Amino acid sequence: MRSHCWFYPVTLNPTHVMTLNPKLTKLLNEQINNEMSSSYVYLAMAAWFEQTPYAGFAQWMFTQSREETMHALKFYQYLADRDAKVELEPIAKPNADFKTPLDVFQQSLQQEEKVTQQINDLYEVAEQVKDHASKNLLLWFLNEQMEEEKTVRDMLDRLKLAGNDPASLLVLDREAGSRPSGGGGSGGAE
Ligand code: FEO
Repeated sequence: MRSHCWFYPVTLNPTHVMTLNPKLTKLLNEQINNEMSSSYVYLAMAAWFEQTPYAGFAQWMFTQSREETMHALKFYQYLADRDAKVELEPIAKPNADFKTPLDVFQQSLQQEEKVTQQINDLYEVAEQVKDHASKNLLLWFLNEQMEEEKTVRDMLDRLKLAGNDPASLLVLDREAGSRPSGGGGSGGAE
């Protein structure tokens, strides 16, 4: 019987892993912290809504908090996959002082705009150091940010229309509570 036993020499050389630029490594580490801080900001918003009749908004904020944690973990995994050192820093205490649902969503939009700027800055550095894999990761985040900003702006527009009308606010609350909560929600990190 003819032997079909073939051996292909395979060379595994971990030193061939492309090293990550030090400045980019530092900024990506900072972004883990920024995303975890963002998660904490949203958790504080959820907690505030839990003290109000708006259970749907509380659920929306809780879901968003979880998505931000997934974003942090996506950066973490990327650094680990690139064989770069992960350095975790303390997470700042979030603001917990809110006045109305409109106020919370206005602060949410500010939060998202801040993160978009951070990702933009990161993309610029990735471009400067010609790290195309990082650019690819950051493009995913830029699209995610666009989507998140749009979602918050849409809710803000409707909250402004609702004004102080309790019936309208409760309709929006119910809508917010129906936001999908599984698998990263609005295109969250997989
Ligand atoms: Fe991960 Fe919405 O910032």
